[in-house]
Amino acid sequence: MRQYKVQGEGLYLMHCDNCHQADGSGLGRLIPPLSENTTIANNRNQIMCVIKYGLEGSLIINGVEYNGKMPGNTELTNLEIAEIMTFVGNSWENSIGIVLSSDVEKGMDSCH
Ligand code: HEC
Repeated sequence: MRQYKVQGEGLYLMHCDNCHQADGSGLGRLIPPLSENTTIANNRNQIMCVIKYGLEGSLIINGVEYNGKMPGNTELTNLEIAEIMTFVGNSWENSIGIVLSSDVEKGMDSCH
């Protein structure tokens, strides 16, 4: 898992940190937090789809409504998405364990 997490941190700093912040806290009412976000533990498939294809529209996290737009990252490979998810999913208070590239490959079928 260590290798995935280390790679994932580098990718997070490149692709996510400027919005979601280094501590995963997000930005006020504009950017949702990735720390204290139960979707990360409860719906991995949704998270991988958001990372790849982006997200817009209303979203309620911890009682706060976000209505922003996150760009997709269609250039990321399944392995890179797995590494990012392993980093995010095991940082701050999250602990979902390793997310493998094969998990992402399977989960991607659920994106629409
Ligand atoms: C340009 C700013 C920006 C970047 C870069 C960005 N995000 Fe987002 N992200 C957002 C916004 C805004 C939302 C909420 C969208 C909405 O309101 O529908 C969001 C939503 C999310 C969600 C959904 C949360 C939930 O509970 O459903 C996750 C997970 C997420 N981002 C992870 C990431 C990861 C991982 C990266 C890096 C690969 C990333 N984001 C890059 C702005 C960004």
